[in-house]
Amino acid sequence: MEVSTRLAAEVLGSRRYRWIAPDLVQRLAGDALVGARNEADAVKRTKRRLHQIFGAYVWDVRPDVALTQLRTALETGGAEGVRTACRALLGRHASTRERLPVLDELYRAIFALTGPPAVLMDIACGLGPLALPWMGLPPGTKYLACDIDRRLVHLVDGFLTLLDVPHVATLRDVVATPPPGPADVALLLKTAPCLEQQAPGSTRRLVCALEARHVVLTFPTRSLGGACKGMSAHYRALLDEIVAGMEWQIQELRFPPELVFVLTKPPSAAPSPSDVRGVRLKT
Ligand SMILES: C[S@@+](CC[C@H](N)C(=O)[O-])C[C@H]1O[C@@H](n2cnc3c(N)ncnc32)[C@H](O)[C@@H]1O
Repeated sequence: MEVSTRLAAEVLGSRRYRWIAPDLVQRLAGDALVGARNEADAVKRTKRRLHQIFGAYVWDVRPDVALTQLRTALETGGAEGVRTACRALLGRHASTRERLPVLDELYRAIFALTGPPAVLMDIACGLGPLALPWMGLPPGTKYLACDIDRRLVHLVDGFLTLLDVPHVATLRDVVATPPPGPADVALLLKTAPCLEQQAPGSTRRLVCALEARHVVLTFPTRSLGGACKGMSAHYRALLDEIVAGMEWQIQELRFPPELVFVLTKPPSAAPSPSDVRGVRLKT
C-alpha cells in the first residue's frame, strides 16, 4: 500500500473528516509527506490542513433527518412547503445563509444572462441545489452536482430525487478531477478561495477544463467573521489571474453578499449541449 493511502485511511478514520472524499485526503496526505518528520507528523499535518480548508464549513449535517423534513414538507405543504423547508436548511450553512436575502433575484439574474440551461453543473455545490425552487429552471433541466463532503452529496441526491429532477450527484475532488460535461452553465459559487488554498492556480485550471459555455464564478464580499475590508479588491485580482489571457467575455452582477461574474467561452471552446439562444453580451 502506498504511504499516502495508508495516511489517508488513518485521517478518514477520524470522526471529523470521515465524510471527506478519499481522493482529496490522499492528495493532501501526499503533500504533507513532503517535509514531515515521520508518518504520525504527516497525519497531523494533513488534519491541520483539512482544518484550515474546511474547519469553517464543518457543521452538523444530518442528511437523513433533512431528507425526512423535506419529504414531509412536500407531502403536507406541496411546493410552498418545500420552499419553506429549503429556506430553513439553506440558513444552516454559512455560505447559503448569506444568500437568503437575494435568493429571489440571484439565480434569475444569472440565467437571464446565460439563457435557461438544459444541463446545469453545480461544482462544489454545498447546499446550493436546495435553492432550486428559486432558480426558475425549465422542466427537465439536468442537474449535475458534486462536492467532497459525502453528507452533502447524499442530501442533494435525495432532494433532487424527491423533486423528480434528472440529476447526477457525485463525490469528487474537483482540483484533481474536473467534472465531465458538457453543460450549458457551470456554477462555481464562493469556492474559488477554498480551491486556491488547496492548490494555487487550481481555479484557473478547473475553469479551463470545464466543458461548459458559461461559468459563473462568485466570491464572498465579507469574511465568515463579518469583515469586508479589501475583500472585493482581493477577489477581483484573483479573477484577473483566473481569466488572464483567455478570450472569455465577462459580465458582472452586483449583489451585496456576493460578487458574481459570468464568464462566457467562445462557442468553439465550449460547445453547449443545448442551443443557448438570445443571449446578447455586453463587451
Ligand atoms: C464556501 S462552500 C460553497 C458551497 C456552495 N457552492 C455555495 O455557494 O453555497 C465551499 C464548498 O466547496 C466544497 N469543496 C471544497 N474543496 C473541494 C474540492 N476540492 N472538490 C469539490 N468540492 C470542494 C466544500 O465541501 C464546500 O461545500
